[in-house]
Amino acid sequence: MAYEQALVTGGAGFIGSHLVEALLGKGCGVNVIDDLSTGHLRNLARVKEHIAFFQGDIRDPERLAEAARGCDVVFHQAAVVSVPKTVKDPMESAQVNDLGTLRVLETARESGVRKAVLASSCAVYGDDPQLPKRETLPPRPKSPYAVHKLVGEFYARLYTDLYGLDTTCLRYFNVYGPRQDPFSPYSGVISIFMERAVRGEPPTIYGDGMQYRDFVFVEDVVQANLLAAEAETAAGKVYNVGTGAFVHIADVWKALCERMSLHSEPDFAPPREGDVRESVADVHRAREELGFEAQVSFAAGLDETLKWYKKHASAP
Ligand code: NAD
Ligand code: UD1
Repeated sequence: MAYEQALVTGGAGFIGSHLVEALLGKGCGVNVIDDLSTGHLRNLARVKEHIAFFQGDIRDPERLAEAARGCDVVFHQAAVVSVPKTVKDPMESAQVNDLGTLRVLETARESGVRKAVLASSCAVYGDDPQLPKRETLPPRPKSPYAVHKLVGEFYARLYTDLYGLDTTCLRYFNVYGPRQDPFSPYSGVISIFMERAVRGEPPTIYGDGMQYRDFVFVEDVVQANLLAAEAETAAGKVYNVGTGAFVHIADVWKALCERMSLHSEPDFAPPREGDVRESVADVHRAREELGFEAQVSFAAGLDETLKWYKKHASAP
């Protein structure tokens, strides 16, 4: 599907801001709505002259409708992204992640948008021991966050079936790359380790470090979004967005030490409560139906990310 004008919700965030740049690079016009709750205007500094930025909350129907006017595609990234935050205040996160997502779909329907691509998460698989995680596995959400993401998937499918709005949901695995905010105790492990490495300080590894994740570079996640927006046969479907490979947490630190010529042993602490030990994506469906294959190796993605953290050490 060709499109000319896109709305990116959460476009001032980590993933959203990379998506905005890629869309502009394709010659697409871009509107962004973001309340800057966890995103930052500095993430859009390079492109601010070329986009229409709407500071506002996706729950505000008028503001959202204004931002969606004239758009033919919506990439919905805005969310309360911290799992612990959703555990602490599930009512508030449901307002944003459940009702906010419904509002985005409803606004898309009302304003003649043809396609909506939604950010979901591998969190929907919970602690199902089967590996790799396949889209056909029954979801086992373990947090309000995971339930929110599933609710969004169900609504998206419903909007396709009921109203003919073309929707596709992408279950991102562990995304990393430049601009990921390391300054929360719940930030992604790579961003935290990067920040530690740049300071020459040891990180804390929860557990023995042999747990593993499927780390996917942010540019690959962006490509998955672009492919999903153009796919003709992805309506009402969900896709894993990962690499199909995994890296042990202890090896993430080792790889950083090698790159920084650091000789720093990590501190070890007990495993995080509820931590999933092993997570890796089955990538067949996305490959076969979207033509998506992650292109950036872990080594290359780490180099690129490290370059950015070194440059932005004190103000990421
Ligand atoms: P982020 O916090 O950098 O981006 C989220 C953006 O949404 C922020 O800019 C924030 O200000 C904005 N936002 C939040 N609530 C809003 C509201 N009510 N109205 C308007 N804007 C609002 O996080 P991210 O890592 O870029 O995540 C983007 C999406 O990807 C989210 O939906 C997240 O759940 C999903 N996701 C991320 C990962 C990951 O590893 N980073 C993994 C799985 C899924
Ligand atoms: C990620 C998502 C979460 C989602 C889950 C689904 C992020 C930040 N979180 O959690 O939203 O619900 O996938 O599976 O992307 N670790 C350390 N030291 C640290 C930080 C982390 O050892 O300082 C370990 C953690 O204990 C974990 C691993 O690194 O074993 C990855 O942690 P994290 O980056 O928080 O991601 P997930 O736990 O996979």
